[in-house]
Amino acid sequence: MSETAQTEAVIPAYLPSDILNGAARDEAISMMRRLVAHTKNKTTDQAEAPYLEPAANYLDEEIFKNEIELIFKRIPLPLALSCELPNKNSYKAIEVVGVPVVITRDSKGEVHAMLNVCRHRGALICQAGHGESRALTCQYHAWSYGMDGELKGIYGESTFGDFDKSERNLITLPVVEKHGVVFVCLTPGLEIDIDSWLGDFAPVLESLKLAECHLFSSRMMPGPNWKVAIEGYLEGYHFASLHANTVFKTNLSNTAIFDGFGPHERVSFALREIENHLDDPEDTWDPTANVGTINWLFPGFSIAGGWRQRMAIGFPLPTTNVNESMTEQRILVRTPIPEDEAGRHELEVMRDWFYDVTYGEDYITGYGVQKGVAVTTDKTQIFGRNEPGVQYVHRTINRLAKEGAEAVYGDASKVKLPVVLQD
Ligand code: FES
Ligand SMILES: [Fe+2]
Repeated sequence: MSETAQTEAVIPAYLPSDILNGAARDEAISMMRRLVAHTKNKTTDQAEAPYLEPAANYLDEEIFKNEIELIFKRIPLPLALSCELPNKNSYKAIEVVGVPVVITRDSKGEVHAMLNVCRHRGALICQAGHGESRALTCQYHAWSYGMDGELKGIYGESTFGDFDKSERNLITLPVVEKHGVVFVCLTPGLEIDIDSWLGDFAPVLESLKLAECHLFSSRMMPGPNWKVAIEGYLEGYHFASLHANTVFKTNLSNTAIFDGFGPHERVSFALREIENHLDDPEDTWDPTANVGTINWLFPGFSIAGGWRQRMAIGFPLPTTNVNESMTEQRILVRTPIPEDEAGRHELEVMRDWFYDVTYGEDYITGYGVQKGVAVTTDKTQIFGRNEPGVQYVHRTINRLAKEGAEAVYGDASKVKLPVVLQD
């Protein structure tokens, strides 16, 4: 028994959906075929060899700072779901690697992203969270901005004195809404080429139909170093041991398939239900009931249960401290949010179950990893052949940090980057 608090709650039901059809269903059947073979053979997808990741890459403050500048401030970050801004004149405010951001949907339905920083004297305009409003008004001296960031109103304007108001609109950030996800770049002026960024992952994301979903809940969760936090989403090797009373009740352990799509990836686990269908004809298979998929957008946007009626979407982001992350965990449903008490209660149970498993089991363990990696005499973490998803993300982080350094400095050797032992 580990020292972590194992959660003894009723496990929320996995409800299959009918969203798979055409090419997406063919793809899902081929994934189930791979998992049926692994279940029969007691095997799992494997990388070519074990992989070593230097401990310094979890600890070194300069490497961490450069990762923030070279990766997090340059790539399109999936900072919101379309269903978090369901109505015209709605907004979401969130702090991302120390940068306060507000994302809005204006009166025409168009999405904008801006620094959540007043152009008078820099106060935070919206408190973190979701809301509806026709304007964004600063609490300090009540300057107000349109939902597109234009400075509209100055309290006591006749006393303030003349200045060029058009120079004091909110600072806009590049933003693109695609396949139900809102991508934001934290650096003003950079362009987002979303089709290049998503690449072959675009049809996978599109097939999840996130734009048609409804947001039930959103909760923030503190965690360890961002890399330690994301590792837990990308392998099922730990299910039998760490999640003995939770995830392992419905998923097989160490039985998974892996697919990489540029920086993004997909890790799919065999649900226990698959054991009832190993010899059934393929045309009777329902992958939504037998395959548990994590669809994962770099650098950590994890969509769990994407073919089912209900999904848990987590996004661990670094804070400004190398030892901390902050995860926004959301519950999405494919049908409108129930208005009756019983229906809402069922979703609340699911919300709390996912929070308790992720925090009480994965992140509490991750805090231990974070301490352990700082004091051990091991200079490296080792990831097995059976942990291809984690190997893949470390390779991606290290590659993007180097490419980012070259883009910014022209010469990657001028900055301290993650240490790479293998590629
Ligand atoms: S800082 Fe916002 S109105 Fe003064
Ligand atoms: Fe886990």
